[in-house]
Amino acid sequence: MQESTKLANIFPAELTIPLNMVIEKQLDQKEYLVDGELKIWNGSIQEVFSPVFVKEGNRISRKRLGSYPLLGEKESFEALQSAQQTYNLGRGEWPTMSVKNRIEHMLMFVKMMKEQKANVVKWLMWEIGKPFKDSEKEFDRTIEYIIDTIEALKNLDRESSRIEKKNEIYAQIRRGPLGVTLCMGPYNYPLNETFALLIPALIMGNVVILKPAKHGILLLHPLLNAFKECFPKGVINIIYGHGKETVAKLMESGKVDVFAFIGSSKVANVIKKLHPKPNRLRSILGLEAKNPAIVLRDAYIELAVNECISGSLSFNGQRCTALKIIFVHEDIVEDFNKRFVEKLEKLKMGMPWEDGVFITPLPEFDKPTYIKELIDDAVNNGAKIINKDGGETLESFVYPAVLYPINSKMRVYNEEQFGPVIPILSFKSISEPIQYMVDSNFGQQVSIFGTDSTQLAQLIDPLVNQVCRVNINCQCQRSPDVFPFNGRKDSAEGTLSVFDALRVFSIRTMVAVKDMDLNKKIVSEILEERKSNFLSTDYIL
Ligand code: G3H
Repeated sequence: MQESTKLANIFPAELTIPLNMVIEKQLDQKEYLVDGELKIWNGSIQEVFSPVFVKEGNRISRKRLGSYPLLGEKESFEALQSAQQTYNLGRGEWPTMSVKNRIEHMLMFVKMMKEQKANVVKWLMWEIGKPFKDSEKEFDRTIEYIIDTIEALKNLDRESSRIEKKNEIYAQIRRGPLGVTLCMGPYNYPLNETFALLIPALIMGNVVILKPAKHGILLLHPLLNAFKECFPKGVINIIYGHGKETVAKLMESGKVDVFAFIGSSKVANVIKKLHPKPNRLRSILGLEAKNPAIVLRDAYIELAVNECISGSLSFNGQRCTALKIIFVHEDIVEDFNKRFVEKLEKLKMGMPWEDGVFITPLPEFDKPTYIKELIDDAVNNGAKIINKDGGETLESFVYPAVLYPINSKMRVYNEEQFGPVIPILSFKSISEPIQYMVDSNFGQQVSIFGTDSTQLAQLIDPLVNQVCRVNINCQCQRSPDVFPFNGRKDSAEGTLSVFDALRVFSIRTMVAVKDMDLNKKIVSEILEERKSNFLSTDYIL
């Protein structure tokens, strides 16, 4: 790694860390949640280190945060057995419980979760290096997601609480759970995106085995007790460990009904293929993306620069929705690049607890090496690093590199960098960025910057069929969470949003009766005496 000067003093001495941000005690987690019990693990462990290094004299070393259990096959199967017994092939208490009661469990959880905000946020910041304010936002966004999910479910339930009639058939149609759900979230939103899978899965009556992401694990520890207290035993099980000994074994058993995963397609495909009965497995996947920005000749350059800075560099570019390649019309590319670099140079770099900080250390140990490979490859193929100190690295800290001009020979043209590298190239004809999108393996979103409504309209119509969200004069993003979040090609399977997630974690199922006196009497008795949770016309307000 190249010798750093800009970054020489980027990491702090322990004593200079503000007291309210200090981790008072390392967390050597022994507990894992299986079958409603916080069991204690005394076997092998995985140590957890922060992306933040601390200085002692002339030396810097990675801050140790604690450790978590490396469970094995036996414990994973205990979790599976508990989940299966609890689901009991759809006959268990949780999958047959009324929606109203499931909501009550969820509300109890939200209350206990809110009490843990300070703890969760601090671990989130230390474990993945996310700025403190953004870590707080992630927590609040997750609470809002749960509340919105509850409201969406109430709506869905109200809409399903009537009996329909077609020809001679009366029917009540509702959504029912799918079964044992394996949930795995990503390290960049280890709370929000994990819960955006977990919460709808649970509230629809599924039972869950959750395995946290590769980073951002200890932050779930303060919530273990809330999970234990708020849900019947076996409804949520949380396991930790290497994929081979845990999720791989579960999948091979054929007993997992739903695979909910946000991360890389490489990992998703390996896990998915292990299921012996693929037709039984429903997959909900959020995978890679390479969202382009297209800056047209008549774009407001200042606006485009601001959105592209935030779109490519928020959380150091570690967002699946980040802008990962920027196409700029050749007539304005010089101006765009100049302003982009000026703006980048004003971004504050530093430690995640610092006010207004934007560029922070990276949690993946091997990411700085990968970023360097991408930069070297681009430079060897004709690109220049156009910002001063771009790519300078000190251990986990990588100062963003702006690369121009990019061409199709370079790895960064196609690979999802998921880090602080911004590839820019110019175009003459709009067909060039469009062809890039047509040829791309990914199809999540695009951002177009321009002012001519006729030209924009001509682009919108073909581009909505290449990706699933066309952003006009705005960066790509998932939020607000009530909007659909999905992708074409290799970017996703299934659609997530507050509302859509309730659908993907459930299946339409119905009760039908022929119009005859006997059946009318039976249905009336069931409804009037509230004998069934499913066949019911009760409203939740
Ligand atoms: O990493 C992918 C996230 O879902 C991005 O969410 O666009 O709201 O930051 P965001």
